[in-house]
Amino acid sequence: MESIQPILDEAERAIAQAQSTADLQVVEMHYLGRKGVIGQLLRQLGTLPPEQRPRFGQQVNAAREHLERLFAERRAALEQAELAQRIEAERLDITLPGAPLRPARLHPLTLTMQRVKRALIGLGFEFVEGYDLERFEYNFGALNYPDDHPAMDEQNSFHIAPGYLLRTQTTSIQGRVFEQLQRGERSLPIRIAIIGRCYRYENVDATHSHTFHQVDAFMVDEGVSMAHLKGVLTQFAQLMFGAEVRVRFRPDYFPFVEPGVDFAISWKGGWLELGGAGLIHPNILERYGIDTERYSGFAFGLGIERIPMLQYGVDDLRLFLENDLRFLEQFPLL
Ligand code: FA5
Repeated sequence: MESIQPILDEAERAIAQAQSTADLQVVEMHYLGRKGVIGQLLRQLGTLPPEQRPRFGQQVNAAREHLERLFAERRAALEQAELAQRIEAERLDITLPGAPLRPARLHPLTLTMQRVKRALIGLGFEFVEGYDLERFEYNFGALNYPDDHPAMDEQNSFHIAPGYLLRTQTTSIQGRVFEQLQRGERSLPIRIAIIGRCYRYENVDATHSHTFHQVDAFMVDEGVSMAHLKGVLTQFAQLMFGAEVRVRFRPDYFPFVEPGVDFAISWKGGWLELGGAGLIHPNILERYGIDTERYSGFAFGLGIERIPMLQYGVDDLRLFLENDLRFLEQFPLL
């Protein structure tokens, strides 16, 4: 009876050399499988003389048990190695910095318009929307501009179609609101404000642009006087520029107010003009059927660009329109 030791040696080598559980499975089938080496040895049992059978049988069984143990040990080792490999391969390094998110920021003009809105809403004004493309009638005629009045030349316009232009002033909302009053869609008293783009056919320089923004506000009630106008504009200036700011009113002319003033604030030892104001011209109120014996109103209109120019020290208003990130990124996130 030949020794099965060489078979065992060979099997041990094959087990030690298996580099993966899949390899090991193949080796295991080869030795312990149904048609494997050990099985064949057991089948030889019948061909041996009866006296040799028990010893050979014991040897083969012992060899099988030995191999089974070796396979189990090697499998456990390989499984652990493979798991470690998988964990390493699938490792997610959450300490790596993420892809940077660039927070969006608001345009400095938007920031300013939000502050203006907050201040005027706080003072009791209701914001309405108007039209950038406006009827000539609302931009000028409804505002008491006499035909061919030279003041219209001061606001050279982009005429888009007969009777239509890009509004030169947000004051153009007044006629539309007064018509709403006439139609009964509103009733007195009213406090209305509007903020939006205006356009003028101008030579562009550091303080003038063809496209800019204005805020207009007006109020109509019983007994409204210049005192109310001054009070509201003083409050507004303080909300925008701080409690120490002082305001100045000087006579000025606009066809739609009487009296008319220009409005300036104290700034760095001087005065800075922000816009115009006055009491709404009685011609306008009467034109819309408002009893001027009983009601009066004030109105003011200011340029928006001036405000961030002062507050952030911007010396050229064209920067607001150019959308250069190097400029825009200098403004606070909120
Ligand atoms: C007006 O537009 C009047 N509607 C203001 C008004 C309203 C007066 C209600 C009385 C009652 P003015 O043309 O001065 O006025 O313009 C007002 C402000 O808009 C100016 O002080 C300035 O700050 C701004 N502004 C005017 N034109 C330009 C421009 N081309 N570029 C930038 N800002 C401008």
